[in-house]
Amino acid sequence: MKLSLTDQPDEFYRGKTVLVRVDFNVPIRDGNVEDDYRIRSSIPTIEYLSSRGAKVILASHLGRPGGRRDLKASLKPVFERLKDLMLGRNIRWVDDCVGPEADAAKKNLRPGEILLLENLRFHPGEEENDEEFSRSLSSLAEIYVNEAFSASHRKHSSTYGAPTLIEHRLAGLQLKKELKYLTKIRDEPDEPFILIVGGLKIYDKIDALKRLIGKAEKVLIGGCIAYTFLASKGVFTGDSLVERDFLDWAGKISSQEKIVLPEDHLATSTVKDLKDVKVVRGSIPAGMSGFDIGPSTLQTFTSIVSSGSGTVFWNGPMGVFEVREFAGGTLGLAYSIALAYFRGASTVIGGGDTVSAFLKTGLRETEVSHLSTGGGASLEYIGGKTLPGIDILKDRL
Ligand code: 3PG
Repeated sequence: MKLSLTDQPDEFYRGKTVLVRVDFNVPIRDGNVEDDYRIRSSIPTIEYLSSRGAKVILASHLGRPGGRRDLKASLKPVFERLKDLMLGRNIRWVDDCVGPEADAAKKNLRPGEILLLENLRFHPGEEENDEEFSRSLSSLAEIYVNEAFSASHRKHSSTYGAPTLIEHRLAGLQLKKELKYLTKIRDEPDEPFILIVGGLKIYDKIDALKRLIGKAEKVLIGGCIAYTFLASKGVFTGDSLVERDFLDWAGKISSQEKIVLPEDHLATSTVKDLKDVKVVRGSIPAGMSGFDIGPSTLQTFTSIVSSGSGTVFWNGPMGVFEVREFAGGTLGLAYSIALAYFRGASTVIGGGDTVSAFLKTGLRETEVSHLSTGGGASLEYIGGKTLPGIDILKDRL
């Protein structure tokens, strides 16, 4: 168990400078934050520190600007949203994360104030875990808090090099919750355990799948990855994307009774051809690809999921939910998972797209046991890897 914020007495934070690694890597459209779940989920930690008189410095990356200043990846829109979400708190902004301007802003902070630094990835030193960059980033901070579970699989300066230079290294409140729920899913989910997987590629999920399939009573497979499983059983999947490298493995897995594959699909020639979308049962004709699970599949999945006992873990959308015509499977499944939670199941949803699909329905994070902020990080953690950003935190003795 890692040492977390609440393991220290309140006085520990008074007047101290705390560097909080957050993950504000959120979708931005036309200069506005499109999905603020990651920002909102870090607020309890920021409030906790600010209300105890700490000087709070927030550091994050946004996108992949490649180590140079690219204003399209500026965190300024996040700063605007953070101010709206934390009305009444004194929140400052500085145009850089290291260097003279940033140092001055850090020095001028008063107890209770919050400072958001500009994108860490404007400097090559961040992703290179450069020693000099780590030293500059960590200077002044007396305490380090990791509230960026979703970036903890990266061995970067802000997640690894900088904290090694700070004596006190603690888990943030959301990060602690992530570890609690994901460890339970990984090691001993309450039974019956229903695993639902979708999304684009088996490749990204293979370790997590290998670990979880054996524990699950039912494995519901949708999204693009379902076509590889169907093809492995000899079902014709038209032009749908099939991962040839995983056909043998998928074939062995899908012979198990617990594996439930789509029985119908919403298919058309291309994702842009919305005039000819058809519900097809069984095989998908040549010249067409599947872009969502069909209505019978959704009904089957819903009846399995919404019983309300044990654990449900969902990672990966059922289709191209960003397009209204192909959103039915993913959004319908989100409602049945909310129903399972209402009836008493422990429900955990992971992955950036899956979480945004869940929130797109109008459902809230209070209608699920845990919405994980982590995409790649959740899968690596469940797959059994050690995450550098977690490893570096102090253990609770
Ligand atoms: C994520 O969105 O998964 C994290 O913020 C990590 O981003 P990255 O894949 O660009 O390192």
